[in-house]
Amino acid sequence: MMRDNIVFIGFMGCGKSTMARKLAIELDRIFLDSDLLIEAKFNQSINEIFENKGEYFFREQEQKLADFFILCQNTCIASGGGFINVKNLEKIGLSIYLRADFEYLKKRLNKDEIAKRPLFFDEIKAKKLYNERIKIYENKADVILDIENKSIDELIRELKKVVK
Ligand code: S3P
Repeated sequence: MMRDNIVFIGFMGCGKSTMARKLAIELDRIFLDSDLLIEAKFNQSINEIFENKGEYFFREQEQKLADFFILCQNTCIASGGGFINVKNLEKIGLSIYLRADFEYLKKRLNKDEIAKRPLFFDEIKAKKLYNERIKIYENKADVILDIENKSIDELIRELKKVVK
């Protein structure tokens, strides 16, 4: 059975958490956030987890969450930027890709927001990662939403035409 969860995917800074939370409120669904759940489990920030346990460990935690999300119903899920590499994304539900250029995303992330994201510390590496991932986001998305210069309310209105 196809689950009716809604999963937001996309690169760092595209607003997955903001959108997932807002849509969850509007549709009266459960809000889940993969980064927040991993941070809560270990009582550590993403940075600390990357530093102490490494990226591979973090990706394993994302996979465990994906295995849990496929059992859920009626949720809006904010995923981390690399969550698209879990092996069962399509089984979770409808994937919405929040798409924007790298430069646009970079402008949206202030110093504090960059400091929370180990894979954005080095801008050159972040841009390379972005270029490697854009096709994956596009291929895995059920719906692509171009977010540049649109307000959250506008985006939610667009989305509501697609989901209930
Ligand atoms: C990552 C994105 C982050 C977080 C971690 C790794 C990535 O989430 O999961 O730092 O690989 O793109 P956001 O996309 O919410 O910043």
